[in-house]
Amino acid sequence: MKIIATDRSGVSREIEGRDNWTLMEMLRDAGLPITAECGGACACATCHVYVEDGWYEKLPPKSDAETDMLDMALAVQENSRLACQITCSDALDGITVTLAPE
Ligand code: FES
Repeated sequence: MKIIATDRSGVSREIEGRDNWTLMEMLRDAGLPITAECGGACACATCHVYVEDGWYEKLPPKSDAETDMLDMALAVQENSRLACQITCSDALDGITVTLAPE
């Protein structure tokens, strides 16, 4: 699967995603500046992304923990998600995300 990721300077790139890995891991491994302080435990919101182009609706709903964490994040939008809570699969081939401000 492919992930289209835009960094905070507006530069987009295509990243290869691996099934059952999280979007956060793929972004981090590709060298994007995503802090992911808690390592994917849904406890920091430093993996905050905006999910673009109709992909947001295709994702599984947020857990209560993700909703709570996003309530404390900055610059939250309607299409905000935590990348560590999104699992890569072929169903998400082409998912397009933008890193939220730090
Ligand atoms: S890495 Fe901490 S909430 Fe996603």
